[in-house]
Amino acid sequence: MTVAKRIYLSPPHLAGRELELLEEALESNWIAPLGPQVDAFEREFAERVEVGHAAALSSGTAALHLGLQLLGVERGDEVICSDLTFVATANAIRYLGAEPVFIDADPASWSLDPNLLEDELSAAAENGRLPKAAIVVDLYGQSADWEPIEEICGCFGVPILEDAAEALGASYGKIPVGGFGRMAVFSFNGNKIITTSGGGMLVSDDEKLTDRARFLASQARDPAPHYEHSEIGYNYRLSNLLAAVGRAQLERLDDRVDTRRANFEAYRELLGNLPGLEFMPEPGYGRSNRWLTCLTLDPRVFGPSPEQVRLALEADDIEARPIWKPMHLQPLYGSCRVRERGIAAGLFERGLCLPSGSALTRADLERIASIVRRCHESASDG
Ligand SMILES: Cc1ncc(COP(=O)(O)O)c(C=O)c1O
Repeated sequence: MTVAKRIYLSPPHLAGRELELLEEALESNWIAPLGPQVDAFEREFAERVEVGHAAALSSGTAALHLGLQLLGVERGDEVICSDLTFVATANAIRYLGAEPVFIDADPASWSLDPNLLEDELSAAAENGRLPKAAIVVDLYGQSADWEPIEEICGCFGVPILEDAAEALGASYGKIPVGGFGRMAVFSFNGNKIITTSGGGMLVSDDEKLTDRARFLASQARDPAPHYEHSEIGYNYRLSNLLAAVGRAQLERLDDRVDTRRANFEAYRELLGNLPGLEFMPEPGYGRSNRWLTCLTLDPRVFGPSPEQVRLALEADDIEARPIWKPMHLQPLYGSCRVRERGIAAGLFERGLCLPSGSALTRADLERIASIVRRCHESASDG
């Protein structure tokens, strides 16, 4: 009997040239958080995302931290933040001693709701206390609705940091994500569409910002032959070895987006007719990278709850995960202001992320789908 292998949610997928580029990096003896691979990765990445400049960093979280600092966020400031996101987005605000103000998701995109954003900024303007910045997330690989969001923030003079950690390769109209706000952030964590095992990128059309990010990320060392420091910096640069891996991964990005979108289509074909099951929508304004295939289950119609389905998958050695728990429901952020109408909370209650790696086979997808289907059918039989 052959034992089926464990299926992970979104494991790394080697592209082919990682070893070759790593060898190049090793042979050049640049085993440091700088070097020719970092320079090339930054150049190639900026070109791919169609932005002027890119600074390679040790993580997406580091990029968020520096991005907010570059926008002038300080202790006591308020910063708008998508409510439905991974905790790293909000943590970066707290690193600077600032307070997040959470905005609920839009059911059409699951990203930040522009109408609630406008309500919040209008109220803040009336109170004479506008937020210092806004972090808006391109959630689960899907672009936020940038046109109204940029217009509203522009009206109130609130600069935007785009958190595109999950959305590399997605677009809004013809514009790749990463091209919105003053700066944008990407992650190359092991579960992302391309990975360097750990890493991130801060991108901007403003070269002064990326130059300053590199300076702060290298312990803010002043130009002098000795070690001279006049402000606090960080050790946030990406290693030259990991940049080599990133370059190889980036070469296959288009392929990875196509494969993840094909996973989504396969799930839709295999599960789309089940009552009470709905997939994450894709608004007409953009093209998602479908980083994760996400869906919601209404137990009153579908039968089992998302948690029961997750456990059934786990029993067959398949990793699925709930949707992000909204920030305003986190013990860490429960006391923060939030503008919400139950959308993110509802998605958390009903949502499930299915395995979405770009190396999944048709047989894997069928194995996963058959368990989800069986959960529904056994509940209906009962
Ligand atoms: C939306 C979002 N923002 C930020 C991050 C942080 O990126 P990193 O893990 O590279 O620090 C992640 C994921 O890890 C994320 O999903």
